[in-house]
Amino acid sequence: MFLGLDLGTSGLKGVVINDDGKVVAQASHDLMVSTPYPTWSEQAPEDWWQALEQVCEQLSQKIELREIEALGMSGQMHGATVLDAAGQVLRPCILWNDGRSKAQCDALMAAHPELLELSGNLAMPGFTLPKILWLQQNEPDIFNAIDKVLLPKDYLIYRLTGGFSTDCSDAAGTLWLNPKTRQWDESLLAMTGLTKANMPTVYEGQQVVGYLTADIATGLGFNEIPVVAGAGDNAAGAVGMGITEPGQGFVSLGTSGVYFAVSEAHNAKPEQTVHAFCHALPNRWHQMGVTLSAANSLAWFANVVSKSVPELLHELEQSNVMQTTVVFLPYLNGERTPINDALACGQFFGLVNATRREEMTLAILEGIAFSILDCQNALASAGTAVESLSLIGGGARSSLWRQLIANVLNKTLTYRDGGDVGPGLGAARLALLGVRELQGADIEQLIKQYCLLPNVIATHHPETSLQHYYEAKYALYQQLYQHTKSLNS
Ligand code: XUL
Repeated sequence: MFLGLDLGTSGLKGVVINDDGKVVAQASHDLMVSTPYPTWSEQAPEDWWQALEQVCEQLSQKIELREIEALGMSGQMHGATVLDAAGQVLRPCILWNDGRSKAQCDALMAAHPELLELSGNLAMPGFTLPKILWLQQNEPDIFNAIDKVLLPKDYLIYRLTGGFSTDCSDAAGTLWLNPKTRQWDESLLAMTGLTKANMPTVYEGQQVVGYLTADIATGLGFNEIPVVAGAGDNAAGAVGMGITEPGQGFVSLGTSGVYFAVSEAHNAKPEQTVHAFCHALPNRWHQMGVTLSAANSLAWFANVVSKSVPELLHELEQSNVMQTTVVFLPYLNGERTPINDALACGQFFGLVNATRREEMTLAILEGIAFSILDCQNALASAGTAVESLSLIGGGARSSLWRQLIANVLNKTLTYRDGGDVGPGLGAARLALLGVRELQGADIEQLIKQYCLLPNVIATHHPETSLQHYYEAKYALYQQLYQHTKSLNS
């Protein structure tokens, strides 16, 4: 058996697969996000560790942990976890949806326009590099004490193995990696006063980076098994769903929303806010458009109206409401693709006395779908067309939401077995690939054998009768942001 651990924003999930790649056990533990000031978003790395312990404990009730052969990690991308020379965490991790470094991004792009060419990406708040500049300027004592900068999942791998490692899919999201060579770039590091000595070693996702230390293995109930480099959650989700070749892609409805497409080579389009990163498997790259508040918007509304997300979705389904004049902008954490505006705010527009809660729920689902359509359009402007599109993430459990996304994107979407736990499944698959590769198997053969597209659970074709409604509403959605953006501060 192989274990994949996915460190998400709202929780840590564990997925165990058997030698044939079938899911045999799952467990999860919730995590909270702290927002001490507007645009800030942080988590304590110790909470991640405790969640990992809880998930292993839960799994030990379901399977024999000593039968696990290897472990892979997937994780929320871009977070800045800073450690001192003794390996101690210096401050809470600054997460992927944190917008505090807008001024640093603007200054960086003005002083170092070569960053676009070197990293293949635009400096956007949320990426790791500008956050370190923010620390340099606002928390100099912390900055001066930094010995290592780790991404969230790599911090957990450090706790498990004692070693500093990362993989190139996650490392590309720091802006310090050259995605073409798949290695750190000294001149990008120098923009933040750092060197390669401050960085973990970069591996391919399936490569073994170390072994559980004896103490940790005993404490958690495992043998001293190998740990592979793993992947950023989006690339890991792609591996889990068998999305490894150009033409394949997915839409992820997690805390963030992602439109992901595999590309043949590193194909940059930074001016359109396209993220052009390495894939988690050798000789593969990908592009993404990212909306910062997808399932998070619905969770926020559920909290405000004291309902659960399933209750809101059930209420909407029962009501048969398919259209509404209400428009929702899902910019609760600012936005990346396509507007790159850390100060953008969420909005409801078009409310009247007769507006019911289910219309507001529908408007939220539509607003998220429009933000994903923005991502589809950004990728199209980079010449990327996805022929086969899957849906993953917790939000994809709702067939109503999946259909709405298919309608708005005007594309057929496929929901597959394991789609709700895609990144954890991908991390477990990387662990399996890593062990088999060490035993002498060829990685391309292994990818063909184990990174298969899981069975189809549902296929959603766009409903043509609603196309005019969505086109008009998408235009209104775009105008609403353009007309009000100057009011955000
Ligand atoms: C990707 C991104 C998010 C996080 C969420 O660029 O910021 O999808 O990885 O976990």
